[in-house]
Amino acid sequence: MKLASKTALVTGVTGQDGAYLAKFLLEKGYKVFGLHARRSSDTLWRLRELSIESDLVLLDGDLTDLSALIRVMEKSSATEVYNLGAQSFVGTSWDQPVLTANVTGIGALNMLEAIRAVNPRARFYQASTSEMFGMIQESMQSETTPFYPRSPYGVAKLYAHWMTINYRESYGLHASNGILFNHESPLRGIEFVTRKVTDAVARIKLGRQKSLRLGNIDAQRDWGFAGDYVKAMWLMLQQDIADDYVVATGKTTTVRDMCRIAFSYAGLNYEKHVIIDPRFYRKTEVDILLGNPAKAREKLGWVAETDLETLIKMMVDADLARVIKE
Ligand code: NAP
Ligand code: GDD
Repeated sequence: MKLASKTALVTGVTGQDGAYLAKFLLEKGYKVFGLHARRSSDTLWRLRELSIESDLVLLDGDLTDLSALIRVMEKSSATEVYNLGAQSFVGTSWDQPVLTANVTGIGALNMLEAIRAVNPRARFYQASTSEMFGMIQESMQSETTPFYPRSPYGVAKLYAHWMTINYRESYGLHASNGILFNHESPLRGIEFVTRKVTDAVARIKLGRQKSLRLGNIDAQRDWGFAGDYVKAMWLMLQQDIADDYVVATGKTTTVRDMCRIAFSYAGLNYEKHVIIDPRFYRKTEVDILLGNPAKAREKLGWVAETDLETLIKMMVDADLARVIKE
């Protein structure tokens, strides 16, 4: 008898992580359904870049619409649900705090409720974040470090994080939080600092742009590669017991040094091109993040495989190729 392959539902499938995760799951033989929030503009470019657009099934629905999520759970018969959908840009969360709360916070609760109503045995992954550590309470952040979010986005994510734990404890759901530190790739949205930098490096190198305006370049982040991080999400749902895990590289770098690496890879000096523009400062900043991935290494056997230099080179190369084609 042929065993039925596993079925996954991915919210946020059109985002950076959603695209990499869908590809990873398809390669493992999963049937993959993606929640697709309808937009008037094209949001499928990442699925096209990974050549998986026609390999998965997109189902219309929005995280703020519980009835749609119930229908999507019924239609997909998903046994694993990865909740990656969110208003994920920290800067925007001050301009749209209510939308951020509804999508990023209540959206996770809606997904948990839909699972409870349709198939409480389905396993659930919540995309938690290092942004919840905010004003850090320990120099290296682990699963036991107290949280202190510094943005409406961080607060919304903390609500979703605790609801995931609460539904695990209240209803016995197999629900896990991945507390992921920043992870980037050539598919990163242009509004995030790494991609903003690598896109600008490509344009400056090719003579299409002269300068790059940035905010606080002394901020430090623990940056890894998204392609490595989606594997940790999957590993969490393969464990007998649901739990929460920090996923990080264990190294931190300033935005300034990230710029230095990206510009010098293209033979440029960042100091000649970067202009500090207070418009990009945040109302409250997360100055430094540095994760301790020991638990993920020990329990999941997961390690970050791609170092920052390799990641930045990959991103600059991809942006050079894109800008040349324009
Ligand atoms: P992303 O590229 O911004 O993708 C976000 C996804 O959410 C997109 O597919 C977007 O759809 C979808 N979405 C937005 N509003 C929605 C709504 N109302 N209903 C349904 N879907 C909606 O984010 P990412 O970098 O892939 O991150 C994935 C998840 O991990 C997010 O929850 C993020 O907060 C979290 N996270 C990310 C990082 C990181 O460094 N990347 C670190 C920790 C946690 P459209 O394309 O149609 O807008
Ligand atoms: N976006 C942006 N644009 N950030 C800038 C700029 C700029 O022009 N100049 C300096 N920065 C600084 C920000 O102030 C921040 O300290 C840092 O660069 C990183 O900013 P982002 O790349 O926007 O990422 P983030 O750390 O705020 O949030 C990302 O990582 C979180 C995990 O820690 C997002 O992916 C979140 O969704 C995720 O949860």
